[in-house]
Amino acid sequence: MSVPWQRLLYGGDYNPEQWPRPVWDEDMRLFDLARINTATIGVFAWSRLQPAEDQWDFSFMDDLMELLEQHGIQVCLGTATAAVPPWMAQRYPDVLRVDFHGRQRKYGMRHNFCPNSPSYRKFSTAMAGEMAKRYGDHPHLVLWHVNNEYGGSCYCPRCEAAFREWLQDRYGSLERLNEVWNTSFWSHVFYDWSEIVAPNLLSEHGNPHNPDQTAFQGLSLDYQRFMSDSLLACYLRERDVVKHHTPDVPVTTNFMEVFKPLNYFHWAPHLDIVSWDSYPRADTDPADTAFCHDLMRGLKDGQSFLLLEQTPSQTNWQRYNALKPPGGMALQSFQAVAHGSDSAMFFQLRRSRAGCEKFHGAVIDHVGHEHTRVFKECSELGHQLESLGDSLLESTVPSQAAVLFDWENWWALDFASGPSEDIDYPAEVRKYHRGFYENNIPVDVTGLDGDWSQYKVIAAPLLYMVTEENAAKINAFVEDGGLFIATFLSGVVDENDRVTLDGYPGPLRELLGIWVEELNVLLHRQTVSLTFSEPSGPLQGTHRGHIVYERVHTKTAVAQAFYDNGMFAGTPAVTKNSFGKGTAWYAAASMDPLFAVQWAAAAAQSAGLQALGEKQPGVELTVRQKEDENYLFVMNHNGHPVELPLEACWQRDLLTGSNVCGCIRLLPRQTAILAK
Ligand code: GLA
Ligand code: ZN
Repeated sequence: MSVPWQRLLYGGDYNPEQWPRPVWDEDMRLFDLARINTATIGVFAWSRLQPAEDQWDFSFMDDLMELLEQHGIQVCLGTATAAVPPWMAQRYPDVLRVDFHGRQRKYGMRHNFCPNSPSYRKFSTAMAGEMAKRYGDHPHLVLWHVNNEYGGSCYCPRCEAAFREWLQDRYGSLERLNEVWNTSFWSHVFYDWSEIVAPNLLSEHGNPHNPDQTAFQGLSLDYQRFMSDSLLACYLRERDVVKHHTPDVPVTTNFMEVFKPLNYFHWAPHLDIVSWDSYPRADTDPADTAFCHDLMRGLKDGQSFLLLEQTPSQTNWQRYNALKPPGGMALQSFQAVAHGSDSAMFFQLRRSRAGCEKFHGAVIDHVGHEHTRVFKECSELGHQLESLGDSLLESTVPSQAAVLFDWENWWALDFASGPSEDIDYPAEVRKYHRGFYENNIPVDVTGLDGDWSQYKVIAAPLLYMVTEENAAKINAFVEDGGLFIATFLSGVVDENDRVTLDGYPGPLRELLGIWVEELNVLLHRQTVSLTFSEPSGPLQGTHRGHIVYERVHTKTAVAQAFYDNGMFAGTPAVTKNSFGKGTAWYAAASMDPLFAVQWAAAAAQSAGLQALGEKQPGVELTVRQKEDENYLFVMNHNGHPVELPLEACWQRDLLTGSNVCGCIRLLPRQTAILAK
């Protein structure tokens, strides 16, 4: 859907209900100074807006909407349903969750509702509806922000009952359920739906120190799917009610990077625009943040997304809440835009006076005026973003390479008992993403249901769970000429975590042209050495395998590298198979990061993908494209200046207005946006 804004959104969460009225006027003056154009309001205002079951009080919201309109500030309107009011919990205790330990929660915190509570469903839908009825035709309403950071789980009797229904829908009969859960194991055969209980510490998960440890992976996996669906159902009910009143206003809910509980690929089709909250730590590598942006863009097959929250300076909830260095906030904002964001928004605009977020950074600090370093940086960025006009809005980030990410696969790997606790699915995917990043090759993060038509190269590390349907899609990609890589522990189980018989990697065997006989585990920090017999372009030399390594037999594949030591010395560690018009690689161990860098370079070379420029440490390049315009982002993440040769002549730097040719010099943490 086309968006109702004409320039990049700049602003963020604004909670004036925490402040006396005169402060609001001062806020408007400061917003104007910082060129803030959008405020996210009402996110945690439920108890103010609905003081009792049959009582509504929109007075503060009415004033606020009017004030924002007078000052030309666009509104991203919260539906106010992310923290239930105390009266509701007291009167309707079914709104409260039962936790993983089986304890009934009392009132407290936020994000604290049971997704299957009839009372919560009724009241939250009504709240969203009241908001939409009252403010739906407000001229400055540009975006709905449903709820906030959905997440967590509930194990109450209502969720348990809803889970049984969900299972009946999915499997139809108990026979089928018993079969796919393999319930003859440990005497679990179910003869009545009511015998099935929610999997938590009181049932299948017996280890309080490792909540992922379950006796029945199929059951726990289904509960995870069910919880993601239950929360999605809450979102959908609110979305439907606001859509009913305002069909033309886009709807979002804010995601949180690589957040395990929710399958964002299932959620994204129901959002008009994906948005997310980025809170890197002081020591987070920019490559990791790049991965998150690429994932958010990938959730809707390349559609631009919104950076809905970031801190201008510091958080309060990390272990060490360091300030972003001078220029760091602007750089992170541009990095988001460089990867496809149409906004740079903050949490929050004015720093709270009390509560656990009083030490969380904000555009306006406790001192209240504009003479702070953080405000000045925000204001400078506001002017810069404003100067970009609509040039970048809804532009794409063209990539011909992708890494595959799959939530259900992640859940299954973490629920698996063995083979090693060091197995880390997101880390494995990030490693291959970084291979492309380090080579300045644009890369997407895609899902198993994604549109792969533009890709020439796909890396699918650690794809443990593969259905026949997934395998058919991957096969077709390679048959058509695609270049693909799979790794150790792939194609092992089906969607119910039942091992595919007749040899690993199950339905990927033919594609990869191998058979994996056994898998050995390396103790913490042990490695195995492996060496390429001859270079395959940039892919060559000796590498280290970590965590696990496998004994592979080649069928149609050709071994490229062999183990130098360990139990499988002399046998293949990396193989390559021709399949249709394409090629499928297999890496039989958790490889060192250099392997992924070399593999990406080799894959790009053979698939004819262009790097955006020469790689320099700490300098990141991306491109956004709109019609005939190309915008090259050059970002210096270093604390020192850099000079970078550029292959082509770029006409002008949108941020400085100067022409750039042959070479660009950037100050510490400076970004250039070069138009051609
Ligand atoms: C999340 C929430 C916000 C706020 C910030 C603080 O992103 O959505 O309400 O609590 O964290 O970092
Ligand atoms: Zn519940």
